[in-house]
Amino acid sequence: MAERPYIVGNWKMNGTRAMLSEARAIDRSSQRLMKVEVALAPPFTLIHAVHREVEQIGVGAQDCHSGTEGANTGDISASMVADAGAKFVILGHSERRQDHAETNALVRSKVESALEAGIRVILCCGESEETRDEGKAESFVARQLKGSLPESLDNADEVLTIAYEPIWAIGTGRTPTVEDISAMHRSIRALLVELYGEEMAAQVRILYGGSVNPDNAKELLAADEVGGALVGGASLTAESFLGIVLAAAEVQEQ
Ligand code: PGA
Repeated sequence: MAERPYIVGNWKMNGTRAMLSEARAIDRSSQRLMKVEVALAPPFTLIHAVHREVEQIGVGAQDCHSGTEGANTGDISASMVADAGAKFVILGHSERRQDHAETNALVRSKVESALEAGIRVILCCGESEETRDEGKAESFVARQLKGSLPESLDNADEVLTIAYEPIWAIGTGRTPTVEDISAMHRSIRALLVELYGEEMAAQVRILYGGSVNPDNAKELLAADEVGGALVGGASLTAESFLGIVLAAAEVQEQ
């Protein structure tokens, strides 16, 4: 695992102010686990409240618009989420790509806009079950990333994280084998070297996401080239999310 594992909770379309107590509990316990970097991406409506509630963990958004401001009813720009307290944004999640027809080109323009606004990006990628069954998972993910990543990158360790999330593993309770995850992460690393050079590529953490829970976290996080986890369902309660954070701390100490 990378120097300091990164465990990010994606609350998706879940959470009202009643859930702020979970964020507080996650924050307070994470203070004792300094070896793990912990973050939460609540819905837009809670970013500012979570930001005010926590001291230790990072707060981010789940999406942003590619523009900076203007006549875009219902949209939120990167500088707006930054103003609310977000330090990062998740972009290109498969639920956005599928439900909102987000193309690689659109995701790339969002990535560029977020970096310009000074917030970190967690860029998601991942194949469908059909693509994996056809043996084309790695080439699909490489194409997706080539189309979504910015042309150039400065300070990669501070600005970019990749999350590999096979679509068929999200919310299903199914996960790839650790060998398949490591093979995919190695292939993503090789692509980053091709695009940005050895030194820059080495600084980018590659997270795994898809049905990570307190029971499987240790095995998944110990896999070669896995720098942390992007967690959906199991991030909704402090108890289960902290189980994953604890697993990351244990793997780190091994
Ligand atoms: P899951 O979601 O942990 O509920 O499978 C992961 C994600 O979509 O980020």
